[in-house]
Amino acid sequence: MKYGKRKMLIAGEWTEGSTGETFPTIDPATREVLAEVARGTAADIDQAVEAARRALHHPTWAGLPHAARGRLLYRIAALIRTHAEELAEMETLDCGKPLSQSRADMETAAQYFEYYAGVADKLFGTTIPISPQYFDYTVREPIGVTAHIVPWNFPLAIACRGVAPALAAGNTVVLKPAEQTPLTALRLGELAMEAGLPPGVLNIVPGFGHDAGAHLAGHPHINHVTFTGSVETGIAVMKAAANNVVPVTLELGGKSPNIVFADARFEDAIAGAMKAIFSNAGQVCSAGSRLLVQQEIHDRFVQELARRTATLRLGAGLEDPDLGPLVSEEQFQRVLHYIDLGKREGAQVVIGGEPATEGPLRQGFFVKPTLFDAVRSEMRIAQEEIFGPVLSILPFRDAEEAVAIANDVSYGLVAAIWTRDIGTAHRLAAQIKAGQIFINNYFGGGVATPFGGYKKSGFGREKGIEALQSYTQVKNVCVTLD
Ligand code: NAI
Ligand code: MG
Repeated sequence: MKYGKRKMLIAGEWTEGSTGETFPTIDPATREVLAEVARGTAADIDQAVEAARRALHHPTWAGLPHAARGRLLYRIAALIRTHAEELAEMETLDCGKPLSQSRADMETAAQYFEYYAGVADKLFGTTIPISPQYFDYTVREPIGVTAHIVPWNFPLAIACRGVAPALAAGNTVVLKPAEQTPLTALRLGELAMEAGLPPGVLNIVPGFGHDAGAHLAGHPHINHVTFTGSVETGIAVMKAAANNVVPVTLELGGKSPNIVFADARFEDAIAGAMKAIFSNAGQVCSAGSRLLVQQEIHDRFVQELARRTATLRLGAGLEDPDLGPLVSEEQFQRVLHYIDLGKREGAQVVIGGEPATEGPLRQGFFVKPTLFDAVRSEMRIAQEEIFGPVLSILPFRDAEEAVAIANDVSYGLVAAIWTRDIGTAHRLAAQIKAGQIFINNYFGGGVATPFGGYKKSGFGREKGIEALQSYTQVKNVCVTLD
């Protein structure tokens, strides 16, 4: 076991948890056990929430000058950078993604802490002129104990996306990583302690969703939940939080359209389409999983995509291939199920369409990169999130039809538009119901740009200054002057 036994972090102490039970986390490329991880249950969540509550008003945190709070976050960012290679290797082993993609994730994780470190002493209210009789002002206060329930596709980057702004605004945190990928979050806990974060400000409780996750979402003493994952679980989290009138930020994935017009720069659009669906083997909430191609270039475009797809290398993430394994047996089965479904629905397999079983690939959860052509919008492979290296290709005639297809799903996370016509680009950007629009790129933006969904992709915004809405509450103070 490369990483041995891993404990949970509660009130600044590393503990085995109330039951002493553990669960294994595996390398999905080989199914080898990487670590036995302390299994957090309801009792541990209770303790973690209590620790976060105490830390919230403790002078070591609440009394810290805001600039000093920012410096603490900068130290965490610096430690992530110092340990980036070690963290990237750990992430790759735990979730399967290619090493260079894990390295990019670690860079993003560090950037979240840097970005929000800078904000810690720049969160201020306003004065509101009402009449000479009153002096009125607002202050932005922390919202309190924030719960973060994180998925397995970007384990550390998504954890930091929520934790960094929450801490910058003076909150405290209970973080529950996904059961498939708990290792880098726990390592972050060690680095945060090394940076000098006071005990109880960041608590990390690994465990299962139905158990630790559900108890955390419904805990009466939390004040906000940040959740990223499936729609089904998002609904459960929202219901649990509703019992305590606790607000939620939900980021629930998508079925994002990647729209290529005939006048697009061909080479850029091809490269963008490949990246959009095959990054992290398609296990990306904002994946470009529906490729809409204008009729005139459809055949040539699909041919070129197929040619490039055939050259993609699959392998264990540490070998830095183009695609690693899927994260788990469950995800592997889910994706294969959708591939079968697409075939039965009458879509055309251009390439792929089966698990990859050559040599050592047989031991892991590898699926061949798959292109489905002749997909119609009503098919389930055009409507439902597959979360694997499976692209559904739909032809369109004109801009009007492209918009109709683009909006014909229950999701609305991102959309991309490839065209040289600036009018078409902006018109579609306005007409498509999604939280982010990429024009002549895919995955554009970064830690500074707001991210979140329309429709069933969720609500609330993460990243950028927008994210601070979730982690602060506004207090208005009105003073009579005479
Ligand atoms: P999930 O939504 O069940 O899991 C995400 C997180 O929620 C994990 O930390 C899990 O432990 C926790 N969780 C599960 N049940 C919970 C509950 N009742 N209360 C509180 N927390 C709970 O997603 P899962 O099962 O891992 O993947 C299923 C599908 O969800 C994927 O195939 C994909 O379509 C989608 N998904 C979307 C993601 C995104 O980035 N938006 C990320 C991961 C999955
Ligand atoms: Mg794992």
